[in-house]
Amino acid sequence: MLAIEKVRKVFGATTVLDGVELVVEPGEVVSILGSSGSGKSTLIRCINGLERLDGGRITVDGFNVSKPRELAEARKRSGTVFQLFNLYPHMTAVGNVMLAPVEVLKLPKKEAEARARRILDSVGLGPRADAYPAQLSGGQRQRVGLARALAMEPRYLLLDEVTSALDPEMTAEVLGILAELARSGTTMLFVTHEIEFARRISNRIVFLDGGRLVVDLPTAAFFSAAGGMAHPRIAQFLSKMQKD
Ligand SMILES: Nc1ncnc2c1ncn2[C@@H]1O[C@H](COP(=O)(O)OP(=O)(O)OP(=O)(O)O)[C@@H](O)[C@H]1O
Ligand SMILES: [Mg+2]
Repeated sequence: MLAIEKVRKVFGATTVLDGVELVVEPGEVVSILGSSGSGKSTLIRCINGLERLDGGRITVDGFNVSKPRELAEARKRSGTVFQLFNLYPHMTAVGNVMLAPVEVLKLPKKEAEARARRILDSVGLGPRADAYPAQLSGGQRQRVGLARALAMEPRYLLLDEVTSALDPEMTAEVLGILAELARSGTTMLFVTHEIEFARRISNRIVFLDGGRLVVDLPTAAFFSAAGGMAHPRIAQFLSKMQKD
């Protein structure tokens, strides 16, 4: 499992994560909601070991991300997709997807390429596998980003607003793939502003407010009057999101 225990993160005088507790079990889809600046991306970066913790502990299947000797193992188990695609422009889609399996997992090139083509096919990009990022639409590029994470066969898929740079049509393309992954049992920690989508695919929803994880509820309870909606901050957040 992915275990986040009493995590604290401070930038200068600001406490950005304040005692965050969260456990994600294999097979679960957990969405993280919260206003801009509430600490969602920072939490994802902490899980990756991209930020040093100022307190608490994060383990991925028991591997502590704060211990240099355990970080590589922890990272192998979690794949992350960010808002911006960060593909290598001089490599084709298949080149981007096979890179980490070759460099990190030491797969033979032929095997890595076959895996990359199979995964690109599964996200609907089989026919575009040899295109360069500049020749792809935003939605296609984000699907390459997703394929690149999936090529490492992560136990946990971390997604940070993967559709927020996309127009509605491209968003639908990418969400379709994510829904498919959720159905097939992929474990996901999903930061999003797509409330209705989160509601459809999540087992649980957690809400971050000013760095504190104030609510962690099964999806139906999160949206019920007596559950999440009983929290003024969540009711306010959801009504604002639905107006936008
Ligand atoms: N490297 C940094 N140095 C200083 N402050 C930072 C740094 N990274 C993030 N912050 C601050 O930490 C807080 C949380 O930022 P974070 O990016 O985690 O928010 P978020 O919930 O992902 O917001 P958004 O929905 O806008 O993506 C913000 O106040 C932000 O300004
Ligand atoms: Mg963010």
